[in-house]
Amino acid sequence: MRKICVAGNWKMNKDLNEAVSLISELKKTLENQTINADVIICPPAIALETSKTLIEGTAIQLGAQNMHFADSGAYTGELSASMLKSVGCKYVILGHSERRTIFGESNEVINKKVKKALADGVDPIFCIGETLEERESGVMQKVIEEQVRKGLAEVTVEELGKVIVAYEPVWAIGTGKTASPEQAQEVHAFIRGLLKEMYSEEAAEKVIIQYGGSVKPGNADKLLSQKDIDGALVGGACLDAESFFGIIKAAK
Ligand code: PGA
Repeated sequence: MRKICVAGNWKMNKDLNEAVSLISELKKTLENQTINADVIICPPAIALETSKTLIEGTAIQLGAQNMHFADSGAYTGELSASMLKSVGCKYVILGHSERRTIFGESNEVINKKVKKALADGVDPIFCIGETLEERESGVMQKVIEEQVRKGLAEVTVEELGKVIVAYEPVWAIGTGKTASPEQAQEVHAFIRGLLKEMYSEEAAEKVIIQYGGSVKPGNADKLLSQKDIDGALVGGACLDAESFFGIIKAAK
């Protein structure tokens, strides 16, 4: 049985004071509640260290939103996996569609990041997903297959056990349009089938595959009850403690 995992991707939102307030509210909201999900927050880098202190002793875990694939060196503005680890990050989001489109990250770059994160002990939340054009022109499966095969190239079966896959159709991110639970399930099953081919049935059955793209308290229940949807990667709705909790509690 896979445990539901809900991660909040804050993106470039909340300064340090606002991050402290949101985490305090989230802690208050989650207190004394039965939570059937793993909960991860991914605040901006400036708030990681403080967030780690604030979530100490709670069930909330910490993730970053990006990293570089090198160990260290002359990469102005970048952060390494070991730096993220040193401030308490257990996870890092990699290959988010905003990184792919706005910052030009290729499948090859994302693969380097995935391998480096795994080597340095930070678990990747590995994002994939098609654009509306790709879906409508019938190349969705081809695009997703390429993202999975290239992004996870040289990742071993043991390492796969540490990877969370996040399927996020680009057309559903921040748009208010969600894939229907059936549409999402179909792609999740396809991704799991690919992982079976690339690794093994046993390994693929253990992989958490999150859905992302306009997940809200109102649609989380139906999405999370699909067979191959094991959680959510939440953008907009995680910036408010009540609505993030509304999604977390959809985990049965
Ligand atoms: P959204 O973002 O929930 O605001 O659509 C999801 C994401 O980009 O991870």
